[in-house]
Amino acid sequence: VSNEHKGARLQHAMDRLIHVSRANHYNVYQAFDWPDALPGDRPWMSPELLSLHGTEDAERLSDDQRLALSRCEACSFFSLNVHGIRELLLEVVKRIHAVGFEGESEYLHHFIGEENQHMWFFAQFCRRYGKLYPDKRLKLADQAEPDLQAFTVFARILVFEELVDHFNARMATDDALPALVQQLNRAHHREESRHIAFGRMLLVALHDRLRARHAPERLADLGTYLQRYMTASVQSLYNPSAYRDAGLPDPYGLRERLLAHPSRRAAHARMLKHTVDFLVKHRIVSDTELPS
Ligand SMILES: [Fe+2]
Ligand SMILES: [Fe+2]
Repeated sequence: VSNEHKGARLQHAMDRLIHVSRANHYNVYQAFDWPDALPGDRPWMSPELLSLHGTEDAERLSDDQRLALSRCEACSFFSLNVHGIRELLLEVVKRIHAVGFEGESEYLHHFIGEENQHMWFFAQFCRRYGKLYPDKRLKLADQAEPDLQAFTVFARILVFEELVDHFNARMATDDALPALVQQLNRAHHREESRHIAFGRMLLVALHDRLRARHAPERLADLGTYLQRYMTASVQSLYNPSAYRDAGLPDPYGLRERLLAHPSRRAAHARMLKHTVDFLVKHRIVSDTELPS
């Protein structure tokens, strides 16, 4: 397929996404009921999504501890969304009118608008019902060349959105959770499906352009960078402050133990499977193994 043809296909797909985005636009500030308090006798996060799931530490939890953990991990997960969105918005805003992004500019306006709304409702949830946990995510170094840096920005956005969506998709339909938690996850899942569709197309197009300009070794380094980013993203789900707030002993020791646990490693591979398969298929990443 020629580059010209691919470009036309990308533009056509973006036009369609813009159309859907406009048709589904809603007033986020009036869309949800925010009760004064959420039920404490129901989980706020699906049990199989808890970071202790499948380990001996999970089996030792009392019922009260399990509920407290689900509340703290729900806030920790939503906080992660808030920080992740803010970071990616900063990068997208920098590029929305940059040379080379003329074709994407219109779509990116919608993207920014929708992400601002997501950031609002996730932060709102944390502040009302728990707390907004501070950003403790590992920062990876920037790339020296602007085109490589732009690629890693959109690659990080895609990885982050697909990882988060693994959680949103499940919690959107988990009837055991409070209605508001289901609604927020559903609203996010719906809009993220568009962002993910766009992100995948854009990433392939950007990588094609990089291939014409950079040595294979340089692109291989980029793949390694993305693998490290995926590992760092998954590790950010293990928040010692949330464990402490849930009343669990030795939160840092617990985090270390969980990160090394075989059933957690298998869970990480499942969370990232679609993303890794996509990156390998398009030769952006060379193998399916992730660094630990
Ligand atoms: Fe979002
Ligand atoms: Fe998004």
